[in-house]
Amino acid sequence: MAVSRKSWPNLFCTCLLLCATEAASQQFQLEPPSSTVLRGSDARFSATVEGKWEVMTWTLRRFLVLTVSVTGNVTTSSEQFSAAFCSGGDTGCVEFTIRNTTRGDSGPVICTVQGEYGSKTAQLYVQESGTVNIMGGDVTVVQDQQVELQCVTTAWFPIPTVTWTQNGKAVDSSLYNTTDMANGDSFNTTSVLKLQAVSNTTVACWATVPALTNPTSSSVFLVVERNYQDEMRRVKTQSQISGVSVAGQRQGQVNAGYALEGQTSVTPSELTESGFGQAHDSNIFKMPDAVNSNLEGNGYNSAYNTLDESGFRKHRHVTIV
Ligand SMILES: *[C@@H]1O[C@H](CO)[C@@H](O)[C@H](O)[C@H]1NC(C)=O
Ligand SMILES: *[C@@H]1O[C@H](CO)[C@@H](O)[C@H](O)[C@H]1NC(C)=O
Ligand SMILES: *[C@@H]1O[C@H](CO)[C@@H](O)[C@H](O)[C@H]1NC(C)=O
Repeated sequence: MAVSRKSWPNLFCTCLLLCATEAASQQFQLEPPSSTVLRGSDARFSATVEGKWEVMTWTLRRFLVLTVSVTGNVTTSSEQFSAAFCSGGDTGCVEFTIRNTTRGDSGPVICTVQGEYGSKTAQLYVQESGTVNIMGGDVTVVQDQQVELQCVTTAWFPIPTVTWTQNGKAVDSSLYNTTDMANGDSFNTTSVLKLQAVSNTTVACWATVPALTNPTSSSVFLVVERNYQDEMRRVKTQSQISGVSVAGQRQGQVNAGYALEGQTSVTPSELTESGFGQAHDSNIFKMPDAVNSNLEGNGYNSAYNTLDESGFRKHRHVTIV
């Protein structure tokens, strides 16, 4: 039979098509190529076979754990393993499930389809989420003081990524150091955060591994107390804004003197400016329990603003008539 030149391309195409079909009928896909799950959760892999098949096997940790036939017969080595047709009973796709994964299940997952299909290998990674704890709980510090917080994570695998946030915002990584140590087949880490106490904030420490959808965290409240100098400045500013009208002062007299324990020289101008006896701390306003004899008979209205040993501010208001 003579073959015209024109028919050559057609023959060529037909051959390509046949060859491609032949090759495809001997193929199957294993998905996903790798799976990362948390210990105790399930892992799933699916094999999609293009063409006819009879028997498929699944191997985990080098052991054959499951055999499935195209008729739907499943034989397993343990009830930890199961298989089913993917959806709608399509025999072209088999889903293999490993329930309640353990760390020892990590490794290659091999699917073999009997015949010329051969085998495909996927990887299973089983991770572990442990605990996170900022040591010591809430902290109270004086403004601008350097604060050191320690976050301990226990029983993670692999080494968790540890980060810190302050009021929900990421803390610059230059402000903390994280070290890890092996703890049996998992890891503990210690992260030390050093920051300047500026204002009241919620500080949180976060730890995560890839298998974990939401990081685990621990948080503490950082209470910043103003230092004494700042408090003075604040009161001064308030008095400048509000003038000398005094809520806690019943007779509206001008404060002519005040004394601070441990502070001896107070100039009149400071007095006028600072205007002690203002409304601040009026909730702890106290009537005099002691009268300074120097002031006796002068008709002075005197206010004392003192800090006792406990750091508690007392406001004494003394009226001598
Ligand atoms: C972290 O460690 C390095 C090296 O030991 C040190 O120089 C740095 O000050 C540390 N930073 C913090 C926030 O602890
Ligand atoms: C890891 O943390 C746990 C719990 O705090 C502790 O019992 C264990 O000794 C730690 N392991 C190491 C190596 O520090
Ligand atoms: C922080 O909060 C405490 C009360 O929780 C308050 O007394 C203090 O003034 C606050 N500090 C600053 C700097 O706002």
